[in-house]
Amino acid sequence: VTAQRPEQLRAQVEANLTSLGLQQIPVVNLRRADTAPGIIATGDQSVDLDAQLAALSDLRAEGKIGAIGLSNVSLSQLQQALPAGIDCVQNMYNVLERADEPILQLCLSNDIAWVPFFPLGSGFPGQPKVADQPDVIVIARRLDVTPAQVALAWLLAHAPNILLIPGTANMLHLAENVAIESIRLDEEAMSTLEGLV
Ligand SMILES: NC(=O)c1ccc[n+]([C@@H]2O[C@H](COP(=O)([O-])OP(=O)(O)OC[C@H]3O[C@@H](n4cnc5c(N)ncnc54)[C@H](OP(=O)(O)O)[C@@H]3O)[C@@H](O)[C@H]2O)c1
Repeated sequence: VTAQRPEQLRAQVEANLTSLGLQQIPVVNLRRADTAPGIIATGDQSVDLDAQLAALSDLRAEGKIGAIGLSNVSLSQLQQALPAGIDCVQNMYNVLERADEPILQLCLSNDIAWVPFFPLGSGFPGQPKVADQPDVIVIARRLDVTPAQVALAWLLAHAPNILLIPGTANMLHLAENVAIESIRLDEEAMSTLEGLV
């Protein structure tokens, strides 16, 4: 189910405030449903972006949300949204899937955080898994880290506006993912990884 209409966005924010017991939600991501992955909006769920941004801007002016983020947006949609004041963008992106590099760069030049979903290629079948990529595996062995750590460390080294949200249900993986803070990829590793696409 999508909830794209402006009145639905407001109702969802109000419901979240109540269920979380908060006065303000620090940041709300507007998840567009124009393209895969996920449900595609049709009919009255196909809503103009400006109408959605107006609803979220009102909620921000009322103090109910602290900031507006966007998710699953195109370059032109981000350009259209910039005047509203956007704090973060959450699109699919990882070392093997860099179609959205121009959007990342637009975020960088506008001081907007880039929060890639599927930073490891996800747990879904059909999506390329970064940890299975042969060059990533070789680099991980040489640096004595795991392939997933190489994937995440590359993201942090690639651009200064990247925030990581890897998903895991495994405590060991969680510890590995937190530990990338202290992992530095050398020039050889960076040059191989940058050249993968
Ligand atoms: N905005 C959107 O439209 C959108 C869409 C999709 C996802 N998201 C969000 O993006 C975030 C990440 O997405 P995701 O979790 O689907 O994909 P992901 O972070 O790329 O990959 C998660 C997969 O990687 C495995 N993994 C995690 N850490 C690992 C490690 N250290 N070593 C080996 N395997 C590891 C996980 O398995 P284990 O559980 O076994 O560790 C899981 O199968 C989530 O917060 C999700 O909610 C947003």
